[in-house]
Amino acid sequence: MRGVILHGGAGTRLRPLTHSGPKQLIKIAGKPISMWGVQQLISFGISELCVVLGENHPEQVVEFYGDGSWLGAKVTYIYQGEPLGLAHAIYLTKECTRGEDFVVYLGDNVVLEKIDSLIKFKGAASILLAKVEDPSRFGVALVEGGRVRRVVEKPKESISDLALVGVYGFTQEVFEVIEGLSPSWRGELEITDAIQGLIDRGKEVTFSVIEGWWKDTGTVRDLLDANLFLLDRYMNRSLRGSVNNSVVEGRVVVEEGALVEGSIIRGPVYIGRESVVKDSRVMPFTSLGERCRVQNSSIENSLVLDGSSIEGVELADSIIGRNSRVSKSHRSSLVVGEGSVVKL
Ligand code: G1P
Repeated sequence: MRGVILHGGAGTRLRPLTHSGPKQLIKIAGKPISMWGVQQLISFGISELCVVLGENHPEQVVEFYGDGSWLGAKVTYIYQGEPLGLAHAIYLTKECTRGEDFVVYLGDNVVLEKIDSLIKFKGAASILLAKVEDPSRFGVALVEGGRVRRVVEKPKESISDLALVGVYGFTQEVFEVIEGLSPSWRGELEITDAIQGLIDRGKEVTFSVIEGWWKDTGTVRDLLDANLFLLDRYMNRSLRGSVNNSVVEGRVVVEEGALVEGSIIRGPVYIGRESVVKDSRVMPFTSLGERCRVQNSSIENSLVLDGSSIEGVELADSIIGRNSRVSKSHRSSLVVGEGSVVKL
């Protein structure tokens, strides 16, 4: 069994955060989004990974994961070049998967449920489904008589409220189907068309419906939700950095080299390496990256990415991109990147 991580896509709905790197590398609670999936695969013993890279700063992905040995994995990189769709990206892993069954993990998806049903499955493919309120955002599946009958990408008319979660199990049979696919209306080879192709050939596509939390982190709202759930589920109290003169309540991680002084921290909260929190309140569901600075501020339910600082401000429900500065001044003076949202 091999793992395939799809790391492409322009991340347009997450601009400006994605101007300088792929969305899957945005860190939540100290780890890039795609790493939550990578570690889940490794925990199931799947350590031979094929990572398909897109056009948006692929070198950052290679720099981060390297050869994978630091995670106990072996990573092979494949460049997709033009964004021709998820099925196209999967097709490129034909050699890398070396005749084995494989699990495809979309690098922007986080699934907290167990993915056992995709590791050992009957049939030509296996999918995970979840009930959603907005099926038109996803690929959806029509299930009848205990079988998957149809899968449709972003349906205009409602055929089902069961969305395809971005983790799939495939046998090598899918490559033959992809060879015969034509691009969809959006010019892409769709993963749903590949699955439908298997069904049309009379192959069995097995499924399980998950009840627990999962997220396709396509929007700012989704990122904040993912931050909340991952902090809630995975943070254990661990104070490796220095804490002076402060109140630190609950499940709070203060990484090595970080400093908390004269502050109140209420978990779940993650404070990355070399970050400094001074005379501030850091409230639940906040992740600070590495080398961040929070001074004379209050922050809640927010994500502050590596190298950023906030000073003299009260923030909630915010995402501060890498190497940014937010501070109080008697009148506002802004340098705002394309696609930013500022509420003063
Ligand atoms: C992709 C798939 C879709 C699936 C979704 C899950 O959509 O095409 O079938 O439901 O991921 O996240 P995209 O996020 O590329 O719009």
